[in-house]
Amino acid sequence: MTHVPSQTLTTRQGHPVHDNQNTRTIGSRGPATLENYAFLEKMSHFDRERIPERVVHARGTTAFGYFEAYGAYGDEPIAKFTRAKLFQEAGKRTDVAVRFSTVAGGRDSSEVARDPRGFAVKFYTEDGNWDLVGNNLGVFFIRDAIKFPDFIHSQKPDPVNFEAGVANRAFDFWSQSPEAMHMITILFSPRGIPADYRHQQGFGVNTYKWVNAQGEPVLVKYHWIPKQGVKSLTSEDAANIQASTLGSHTKDLYDAIEAGDYPEWELQVQVMEDHDHPELDFDPLDDTKVWPEELFPPKPVGRMVLNRNPENFFAENEQIAFGTGVLVDGLDFSDDKMLVGRTFSYSDTQRYRVGPNYLQLPVNSPKAKVATNQRDGQMAYHVDHAPGQNPHVNYEPSITGGVQETPKDESYHAAVGPEISGRLTQERIERTNDYKQAGERYQLQEDWEKEELIANLVGALSQCDRPIQERMVWHFYMIEDEMGRRVGDGIGVSLEDVRDLGPLPTQRLSEDELQRVANLG
Ligand code: HEM
Repeated sequence: MTHVPSQTLTTRQGHPVHDNQNTRTIGSRGPATLENYAFLEKMSHFDRERIPERVVHARGTTAFGYFEAYGAYGDEPIAKFTRAKLFQEAGKRTDVAVRFSTVAGGRDSSEVARDPRGFAVKFYTEDGNWDLVGNNLGVFFIRDAIKFPDFIHSQKPDPVNFEAGVANRAFDFWSQSPEAMHMITILFSPRGIPADYRHQQGFGVNTYKWVNAQGEPVLVKYHWIPKQGVKSLTSEDAANIQASTLGSHTKDLYDAIEAGDYPEWELQVQVMEDHDHPELDFDPLDDTKVWPEELFPPKPVGRMVLNRNPENFFAENEQIAFGTGVLVDGLDFSDDKMLVGRTFSYSDTQRYRVGPNYLQLPVNSPKAKVATNQRDGQMAYHVDHAPGQNPHVNYEPSITGGVQETPKDESYHAAVGPEISGRLTQERIERTNDYKQAGERYQLQEDWEKEELIANLVGALSQCDRPIQERMVWHFYMIEDEMGRRVGDGIGVSLEDVRDLGPLPTQRLSEDELQRVANLG
């Protein structure tokens, strides 16, 4: 290695360090003294090097690039559907940061685990940041945010002995949560372990809205389609990789970008009129469902290229913060109960995990101008006031030079939402239909994929208690007779054993599903 001339080492106060090898002591054998600022600073900073890892998606990696708009929604002008500026002009580029992740494991866990992958994109638009925080499988295990902490606990290590990856915990929860069946049918198929982060799709999963210049909304779902194609690993492939490295995905992405082999995804969007669509057998606000592509064809709106690696993993990956509440003009929320719950959770955890001024960090800070009266708090780095703002005025309204609201001029249109009325209640949605799309997904798989799916389910369920096995087999029969029979055969649970179980007390079954229950019996 060539000799690199050294720079002078200093403390964080800028004082030169003359000896970085020996603690200052009285005599060469000690004792040490406590007024040794350089030592105390170095050691106490080291003691604070870690911040809490993310409570979920702790293992991940970040890359940067751009999103380039097509200026159209398929062959229609995009302005018909959304006024969001980043989409309007063909060729318009917006900087992005993307963080890919696994979900359940800790920060140093295996990247070839059977686990959904996070696919979080931050668009640094001229109107402020937009975060699209999704996954690679298109649906989710639950449809109501109130279940999320329980769901995640079931995926995490046992709280007594910290044993990780306990199938009994995961399937105990799933067996009582029939809405998870669709995602389980995908997760345990070969799609459940992507080959790497480049060869996977991404999905917004939750239902959002687009709003046009007239304030008219539509419901939308987002899809990222990899130009590289989709590649997955079998359990055996994954075990072989895991035997020698835990970080194969991060390395693959970093190496590809370093080599100039920039990964690319096309953003496609499904659009639905903004109402409850009683003609569908699912609720458009249910994130355990996909929208059939023949009815709601995904159409391209732009492409994303990742062409830059982080320079500092901690600053740009550990401290980056995404959230579903981070939308720009022309994009909006739907009443999807998961989306609403998520929108509270992300910035809440980030104020704790990174600190209340996390938005002042360069990776999180919008490229758009920020001018707020929010002040102070731990690690406040600068004051977010506007150029020319009277710095004494940190309140609004004021006639002495503070910041003012943006006028509601002719360019301002609030979204025109549906009128909503109803009693305050705690109820599941009407159209749960938990098995139909799972059955369609099962049927769509090729024979070898079904083999893998069954073998993976049998492998996991053979580690579970008998009542959990039986309930899962009952659900699989509700999905598809063949799936119930094949998993049941693998773990010694027959139709006879499960047919009298009947639905869970918490289930609401459709006419078709009641018929299926009757046919089992
Ligand atoms: C990360 C909560 C559902 C995708 C996180 C984090 C929390 C959280 C607290 C850690 C954020 C941080 O520390 O910065 C929730 C809650 C959910 C939910 C409460 C349900 C109510 C989902 C769903 C998806 C998803 C349905 C996929 C569509 C992600 C991704 C990350 C993440 C990709 C990692 C973001 C990053 O890379 O920093 N979630 N989540 N989450 N979540 Fe969720």
